[in-house]
Amino acid sequence: MDKPMSNLGFKMMSFAFKVRDFFKPRRKVIAEVGIKQGDHVLDYGCGPGSYLKATADLVGPEGKVYALDIHPHAIRKVQKLASKNRLDNVETILSDCRTDLPSGSIDVVLLYDTFHALTKPDEALSELYRVLKAGGILSFSDHHLTNDEIIYGVTVSSLFELATRGDRTYSFQKA
Ligand SMILES: C[S@@+](CC[C@H](N)C(=O)[O-])C[C@H]1O[C@@H](n2cnc3c(N)ncnc32)[C@H](O)[C@@H]1O
Repeated sequence: MDKPMSNLGFKMMSFAFKVRDFFKPRRKVIAEVGIKQGDHVLDYGCGPGSYLKATADLVGPEGKVYALDIHPHAIRKVQKLASKNRLDNVETILSDCRTDLPSGSIDVVLLYDTFHALTKPDEALSELYRVLKAGGILSFSDHHLTNDEIIYGVTVSSLFELATRGDRTYSFQKA
């Protein structure tokens, strides 16, 4: 079982992301994915919620954003952000892997800057495979990994295949 980082580590990361998001707004990243109104999106390893507002706006009132993280601080931050911005289409999930979402219920998974931190990436990928609809997208980025590590890491289990590569993200599809 993975363990959450220290509370101080989480605070420092959240501050670093504030700076990152100011200079490089996350809306530009999300724009590559093709999220539509009504989509159900799972943000796996949501952290302090950098992608939350942009994603919730894109899916609209008919859609849903599930923000999952292992760290209780992340869940609290996202809940505060959702309530401050009146994002009624957001739900949080405190977990290190299992989502408890129904199989085939998710249109898009965001897996950003999190894969490198997983001690059991295969278990996470199996869970993401299970919850994604046929044709669903696993949108991926991780600046800790090389291009080859990303493609190998996600496709080695044969659950996903590379669909497209954008400037900032990779889109994998259920194989
Ligand atoms: C570097 S942050 C990325 C946050 C966000 N995706 C972003 O790019 O702004 C990685 C996040 O993954 C979470 N995390 C690490 N291992 C996890 C696991 N096994 N299950 C769920 N979340 C995990 C951490 O708590 C942290 O919030």
